[in-house]
Amino acid sequence: MAPLPLLSFFTGQSDTRKIVASVVPRRTFDDVILPPATRRALDQALSQLTRHDLILRRWGLGERHPTGLGLTFNFAGPSGTGKTICAEAMAHAIGRRLLLVRYAELESMWMGETPKNVAAVFRRAHEEGAVLFFDEADAIASRRSTLQEPGAQRESNAVVNVLLQELEAFGGVVIFATNLASNFDPAFERRIRTHVLFEMPGAEQREQIWRVQVHPTLTPLDPDVDFAALAERYPVSGGSIRNAVLKAALAAAAEPGADDHKRIAQRHFEQGIRDVVAASQVMQQSLLSPRPDQAARATDTGAPAAVLDAVQHLGAQVQRHATLAVGVSAFALLLAVIAVVLAAVR
Ligand SMILES: Nc1ncnc2c1ncn2[C@@H]1O[C@H](COP(=O)(O)OP(=O)(O)O)[C@@H](O)[C@H]1O
Ligand SMILES: [Mg+2]
Repeated sequence: MAPLPLLSFFTGQSDTRKIVASVVPRRTFDDVILPPATRRALDQALSQLTRHDLILRRWGLGERHPTGLGLTFNFAGPSGTGKTICAEAMAHAIGRRLLLVRYAELESMWMGETPKNVAAVFRRAHEEGAVLFFDEADAIASRRSTLQEPGAQRESNAVVNVLLQELEAFGGVVIFATNLASNFDPAFERRIRTHVLFEMPGAEQREQIWRVQVHPTLTPLDPDVDFAALAERYPVSGGSIRNAVLKAALAAAAEPGADDHKRIAQRHFEQGIRDVVAASQVMQQSLLSPRPDQAARATDTGAPAAVLDAVQHLGAQVQRHATLAVGVSAFALLLAVIAVVLAAVR
């Protein structure tokens, strides 16, 4: 549900309960399998984080210097590569809550509302001492350069400016998750301490990801299951593997017979992953059909760039049409007023 814009308009308050979820992190770095380069970058980020926590909390410097000592990370990479789990694991490592920001909810339709929501989110993170996690942050961070319409431009500049001010003043930990690191506003870029690149998993990692997605003792697997073969054959993200495993389990559970005899077999996993791959291809096609030149490079890895391009292109078109519609209506209204005045005069 969107926040009640009218209510917050009158009270001057943004209701942060609707736009953020505050969670106690459960997943740890043991739950995530990463390519070596990603793991190294993340280890570095983690040691910065624990040192930061040591001086601010245990050494009490956070109380002396409540602002301006923040630590900001950007997790960049294709969707389903583990950015969300790792944000959770970071918060877990320093024993703090994770404040997950739902950007779609944060971005209010009401002009002037979004900057206020951003400020409210930072206030709440400060109060809870939580790690602040902006998921799918490309939309916020790269705004200044992507929107052309003057009204929307002013609004988005205000959002970025508030975000920059809040980042500057905030004393805690902020993590952004983005698909497109290169598109960042330079002013924003300067405030990010470390970028962690989340790469697509290699065959070796994919095999382990298949394994961790099933329960080590409870999940009934048929002896024909071969995760190495699945990992070799399907170069997909961890998120796709997760979805395929759930589909396979549902299919196996739906088969006739006693539950005790049901097993997830290789054919279930094969079908699951093929469905997931097919579904993501359908999505790319419908989004990309106006720009066939980009469909060619829209693989599981390349999709986010192309998809975002297409969405931005669409967004600009919609905005142009909306402006045109407003213009035409204004003109019609003017004609009506003239007609009424003429009628009155006669
Ligand atoms: N590297 C990984 N190791 C283990 N599981 C993963 C990995 N990447 C993704 N997954 C699975 O896919 C799901 C979605 O991943 P998520 O962290 O939301 O990806 P992102 O935030 O990068 O889109 C996770 O909950 C997890 O089950
Ligand atoms: Mg995610």
